[in-house]
Amino acid sequence: MAIAKHIKELMNSKGSSVIRKMFEEGIQLKAKFGEDKVYDFSLGNPDMPPPEKIYQVVNEIAKDNSKDRHAYMPNAGYTETRKAMADKVNFEQNLTDDSALNENHVVMSVGAAGALNSVFKAILNSEDEVIVPCPFFAEYRSYVSNFGGNLIPVKSKKDFSLDVEAIKNALTSKTTAVLINSPNNPSGKIYSESDIKELASVLYEHGKNTGITPYLICDEPYRAITYNGKKVTSVFPLYDNAVVVTSFAKNLSLPGERIGFIAVNPKCEDAKEFIAACTYTTRTLGYVNAPAFFQKVVAKCWNADVDYSMYTNRCKMITEVVKNAGIEFVEPEGAFYLFCKAPMPILQENKQFIINNGDEEICDEFAFCDHLKKYNILCAPGSGFGCPGYFRMAFCVSENTIKNCAEPLQLAKQSW
Ligand SMILES: Cc1ncc(COP(=O)(O)O)c(C=O)c1O
Repeated sequence: MAIAKHIKELMNSKGSSVIRKMFEEGIQLKAKFGEDKVYDFSLGNPDMPPPEKIYQVVNEIAKDNSKDRHAYMPNAGYTETRKAMADKVNFEQNLTDDSALNENHVVMSVGAAGALNSVFKAILNSEDEVIVPCPFFAEYRSYVSNFGGNLIPVKSKKDFSLDVEAIKNALTSKTTAVLINSPNNPSGKIYSESDIKELASVLYEHGKNTGITPYLICDEPYRAITYNGKKVTSVFPLYDNAVVVTSFAKNLSLPGERIGFIAVNPKCEDAKEFIAACTYTTRTLGYVNAPAFFQKVVAKCWNADVDYSMYTNRCKMITEVVKNAGIEFVEPEGAFYLFCKAPMPILQENKQFIINNGDEEICDEFAFCDHLKKYNILCAPGSGFGCPGYFRMAFCVSENTIKNCAEPLQLAKQSW
C-alpha cells in the first residue's frame, strides 16, 4: 500500500503546506506560552461572530421537520436558494431585467473552494492553462492541478494592480480561463474598473484571434469587506464569459459551514451548458449538493446587516504597528490581510538571506518568518502566494493580539 507519488510531493512542497503547518505550530505555541503571548497571523479564519440573524434563522430552520427536509435534492441546490443567490448577484452587479440572472444561472457549492473545484473539473482538459495574477490564494495551484490543468502565475504591477500587458503576453491557445480574486488574498487589492475593461478587451481580442474566448473567473468571497468606501468592480457588465465563485465564509463568518455558489453571466456564450457541467461535476466530485441546512440559511440571510467596522479598526491598528516597526506593506483596500515586504537583514550573519530574484535582490521571507517565530509571531511566507520576498499577516485576530505584537515585531526587525 502506498500514497500516490504526486500527492506525497504536493503534500510536502514548501509553499503549499506552510500555512497549515504554521497554524498547527500556533496551536502548540499557545499551549506552551499562553494564548496572549502568541501573535498568530497565519490563517484567514474570521473571528468576527456571524450576524445575529444567522442564529435566529438557524433556530427557525432547526424546528422545521417537514417531509424531505433532509432528503437528496437537485444537484444544483434548492430552487429558492438559487433564486436568492441570483438576486444577490443582480444586486451586486447592478444587473437590470434583460441581463439579470435567475435560478438557472446558479449552482450551490461547498464553499468557494468547492465552487472552484467544480468549475475547473467542468472546463479543464489535460494541460489547459489558467492564468492568475500574482499574488494569489495559494490553494489555486491544487485546485487547477487536481484536473490536469496548469496554473500560470503572471506578475502584477508594483502596487499589485493588474498588469494587463503581462496577462496578454501569457495568453496561449491553451488558455481556458483567467482567474482573478478581488479584494485579493493576500494583497487586499481591489482591481479597478479600468483595468478590468482593459483585460476584457484583451480577452475578446484573443478570442477573435484563436476562436476561444477564455472564461474570466472572479473569486469574490471578500466582496463585502472593503475599506475607505471602495467598491468592488462588477465584472458581468464588462465581460460576457464571466463567472463568479464565492461563499459566505468571510462576509457572514461561516467558513466551517462550507456554503457558497457558482454564478454564470447570462450573456456567457455557453451559460446553459456551463451550469449543466458544473451541476454534473458537483455531483461526481462527491459533493452531490451543497449542505442542505445552510442552503436554507443563506437563502434568508444573504443580505443580513453586517458591521465590518471591526475589520476597519484592525486594519488601521495593524498598519500602524507594521509601519512603526519599519516594515513596508501594501495598503489594503479590502479583505483582512496585510501583505508585507520581508525586510533586508541588518545583521551581518543574516546577509546570507539576501537572494537574487531576477532583476532585484530580495530577502528570503522563509528565513524572516522563521526569525519572527522566535518572537512568537506567526506569518505566512509569500512564495506560496507566488510572491517571494513578501509575507502575509491575516488580521482577523483580536485587537489585543495586534496591539501586543507591536513591541516584539519591532524587536524582531531590529535583531534581523
Ligand atoms: C481567495 C480565496 N478563495 C477561496 C477561498 C476558499 O473559501 P471557502 O472557505 O469558502 O471554500 C478562500 C479562503 O480563504 C480565499 O481566501
